[in-house]
Amino acid sequence: MRLVIAEHPLITHKLTVLRDAKTPQPTFRMLTEELMTLLAYEATREVRVEPCTIETPVASTTGVQLTHPLPLVVPILRAGLGMLEGMVKLVPTAEVGFLGMVRDEETLQPVTYAERLPDSLSGRQCFVLDPMLATGGSLAAAIKFLFDRGADDVTAICLLGTPEGVEAIREAAGDRHVTLVLGALDEGLNEQSYIVPGLGDAGDRLYGTAD
Ligand code: PRP
Ligand code: URA
Repeated sequence: MRLVIAEHPLITHKLTVLRDAKTPQPTFRMLTEELMTLLAYEATREVRVEPCTIETPVASTTGVQLTHPLPLVVPILRAGLGMLEGMVKLVPTAEVGFLGMVRDEETLQPVTYAERLPDSLSGRQCFVLDPMLATGGSLAAAIKFLFDRGADDVTAICLLGTPEGVEAIREAAGDRHVTLVLGALDEGLNEQSYIVPGLGDAGDRLYGTAD
């Protein structure tokens, strides 16, 4: 597994505002999207492209275009949905699939409650979006799901992660082609397995409580 921790003062600045418990919901949503766009630049460094020839008004030249099948972006509902627009802003022709997962707060195990993905992901390059990598259970299950469907390259993008979560993804990845991009690596988990210092419950801060 390749781990990339974004280091950029603008990312750290925006994360600082996102973490602040006083930041209102509309600002939280806007910053989540903006942070995703900044992380997408790093996360797509190895997006597959192929050479192509075009005519400029002056001459013929070669460039590159995205390879088919196009990249598949997979936000993990709910909180990952807050990152989707930020990602497709940078890769507007990407296809989008959905995985609905919720962490059982008693057992900490992920429960998959929705799935809308192509039946075969053979040869697909996938980009999974989830703002929070806490124990890593949810993201590890999502990555396994995509590889089981035939994906051969998965990049996961999270705003915040923990050392425990990173190790869980490293273990789930094994020798497969996985890249993990984080906006920041936090200290760890508290007794409720929330990220410390973290930002609280990302889904609730984006969309309100779902109770
Ligand atoms: C959050 C978050 C991750 C998961 C992280 O989702 O968006 O999917 O928890 O925890 P883990 O690394 O310990 O598995 P949650 O289950 O709260 O669902 P939500 O997005 O619907 O709020
Ligand atoms: N899910 C969240 O939304 N936040 C955490 O800190 C951990 C899991």
